[in-house]
Amino acid sequence: MVIFKKIADIQSYIISQRAQNRNIGFVPTMGALHNGHISLVKHAKDVADIVVSSIFVNPTQFNDAKDFEKYPVSIEDDVKMLIEAGCDILLLPAVDEMYPDGSGKMPTFDFGYLDTILEGEKRPGHFKGVGQVVARLLDIVKPDILVMGQKDYQQCMVVKSLLLQTGSNAKMHIAPTQREADGLAMSSRNRRLTEPQRALAGTIYQCLVSIQTKQDEGNFTLVQKECTDLLTTKGFEVEYISLADADNLTLLSNYQGGRPMVALIAARIGEIRLIDNMLLQ
Ligand code: PAF
Repeated sequence: MVIFKKIADIQSYIISQRAQNRNIGFVPTMGALHNGHISLVKHAKDVADIVVSSIFVNPTQFNDAKDFEKYPVSIEDDVKMLIEAGCDILLLPAVDEMYPDGSGKMPTFDFGYLDTILEGEKRPGHFKGVGQVVARLLDIVKPDILVMGQKDYQQCMVVKSLLLQTGSNAKMHIAPTQREADGLAMSSRNRRLTEPQRALAGTIYQCLVSIQTKQDEGNFTLVQKECTDLLTTKGFEVEYISLADADNLTLLSNYQGGRPMVALIAARIGEIRLIDNMLLQ
């Protein structure tokens, strides 16, 4: 794996790869890698000739300064995992390399409705930061295929909108969420859970399964309340338990047969904020 810290260097290297007719798959990350990220790299490897990944803890997408300060960093382990997964190129830029004129000078994008609900509502400014950094990364890497995880469902939709807004040719592939044995979605933030918190964290997945299973009963409000009560009893602070159209994230007050739907949950346990979602079958 070739590691680049300078954008000009990775750009000329990628140009040389492209000149050999190799197509590029790209997996952007913020590091603290786990098997969820590795599954994205492996997916990219299956569909592209060259896999590029990036590790950049983007300060502009953290609406909570504490979350940024405490975001786990494990570059050495990350590099080992990427090599094992067969990643070809890694971009590891410093903040001033990514934002040489300061992040305030970077273009911003309007995600409309998507920025007003769920993560957009609970984390003001988050998607603005995601849009800025992903636009910058796409401009550097110019991938043919962009691989992202379903775990961040709303982010995938925001980035789809970004691809349209920037006229990028990259095709987006959304890879399924990887889960621990108890169903907990893999996430870098899981590392910050204490043992007792970790033991409870699978409850979010149980709630998603119950939202899925109980759709035949046709009463989302009831399941939503049961899940809120269960999570609250276990010490979670629920931010949302929502049902939405899977294609455009229109929030739904009840199940709608024949409509593609996704259930989404955000809840805090102690200092840690966890999100997860499930497409309803
Ligand atoms: O999902 C993430 O890890 C980040 O939001 C991303 C897409 C790498 C942008 O910083």
